[in-house]
Amino acid sequence: IPVESFDLVIFGATGDLARRKILPGLFRRFCAGQMPPEAQIVGAARSEMDDTGFRDLVREAIEEFGGGTPREPGQVDAFLERVAYEAVDAKGDSGWEALLGRLRDENVRAFYFSVGPGLFGDLAERLRKFGLASPESRIVVEKPFGHDLESARALNRELAQYFDETQIYRIDHYLGKETVQNLMAVRFGNVLFEPLWNAQFVDHIQITVAETVGVGGRGGYYDESGAMRDMVQNHLMQLLCLIAMEPPARFEPDAVRDEKLKVIRALDPVEPHHIVRGQYDADDKQPGYRAHVENPRSRTESFVALRAAISNWRWAGTPFYLRTGKMLRGRTSEIVVTFKDAPHSIFGAEAGRHRNVLVIRLQPNEGMTLDVTIKEPGPGGMRLLDVPLDMTFADALGPDGAEMPDAYERLIMDVIRGNQTLFMRGDEVEAAWAWTDPIIDGWERRGEVPKPYDPGSSGPEDALMLMHRDGRRWRDIKA
Ligand code: BG6
Repeated sequence: IPVESFDLVIFGATGDLARRKILPGLFRRFCAGQMPPEAQIVGAARSEMDDTGFRDLVREAIEEFGGGTPREPGQVDAFLERVAYEAVDAKGDSGWEALLGRLRDENVRAFYFSVGPGLFGDLAERLRKFGLASPESRIVVEKPFGHDLESARALNRELAQYFDETQIYRIDHYLGKETVQNLMAVRFGNVLFEPLWNAQFVDHIQITVAETVGVGGRGGYYDESGAMRDMVQNHLMQLLCLIAMEPPARFEPDAVRDEKLKVIRALDPVEPHHIVRGQYDADDKQPGYRAHVENPRSRTESFVALRAAISNWRWAGTPFYLRTGKMLRGRTSEIVVTFKDAPHSIFGAEAGRHRNVLVIRLQPNEGMTLDVTIKEPGPGGMRLLDVPLDMTFADALGPDGAEMPDAYERLIMDVIRGNQTLFMRGDEVEAAWAWTDPIIDGWERRGEVPKPYDPGSSGPEDALMLMHRDGRRWRDIKA
């Protein structure tokens, strides 16, 4: 879909996210022909640098993080011609007039705040003060959107002084992932699933986002956040919403976001015995979590597993088990919907227990499998067997068709198109914090220490127990 001509200003343009994701993503869109001839990208940050200096940095970012982007000779140079740089002082007045001078009246303006939330208000204020933003302009803000409900509210209030909600694009990059959007296509594009998508037929749902990496060089940020704030409050919450929400009347921003908000508001508070926090230990190959952070006695969790309940007509009685962590056995994001037993087995007890299980693999090896019970071939009577109906997207669509554009590419283009469907609304973020805060407060009040777990494992033993107690088990995290 073509986009309008745009000026995209990236604040924090020399930072890690810009180098890793935003700039290489924009280059890929450029190669795909999605950057109109008059569109430009203006990097902005505190460092003094000229256009050439910034272009060198962008070139390096593309080389390092551009991946296997198919490109024709000269495409990098052609892209760099669209890139400029202006040094600005987010807390002062310098650089803003010059930045304004770079922008073109006829272009849609988007301002990407790829900076810490502490600067959101300062940037928003200066965009207004120096006349850079018009009522059509958009701002894009990165996570973390606040640290708790109070700070998120304060941020929302601060931004609302300068921008209307329809101009604010709060990024949760999970919503930009192809397979996450596919959740909506699967649920609402098929007749097959939705009639069964409720507590009457679904025994439970598991959402796992497992990572093999540790906190690495991000210890400073991470130790203040932990898995609950870094992953559960946003990414896992968004997955939960898309899995659990009612069908929106239309695939439109507020229709979708209204339904997501209702899910968050229907979440019960989590009982302390329904949540397990963990922190990875050292092993003989690598240091543990505490070696990466300043505080040698840190109680920050690098793993969370919890049992959530949604109190509404559709889901009362169906638990949602959520789990995420670093330094685990494999990198897997998947959603597992386990359906209930057939109401009556005509094959008798000896046929064993068979259940339909729908696995939606978000990454890697994107696809879906549905376990279906069949007769085991052979003359030995009626023995039953579960076999997967397997739809691996790369097989079903061919390698080209199954190419997954990076989440950021998709989301940035949505900003230019003015489509907020895949962005979080202010009330949604606040509701998510309102659910998260009491959990974190409880840990702090009780002085709870996270359970240690071995790198390369599936997390602490207690996380397994969380499901065993209910007579269920997690799907294995594959190495
Ligand atoms: C980020 C978190 O938002 O998401 C990181 O801050 C995490 O800690 C990352 O590693 C995971 O994203 P992805 O796209 O690699 O699954």
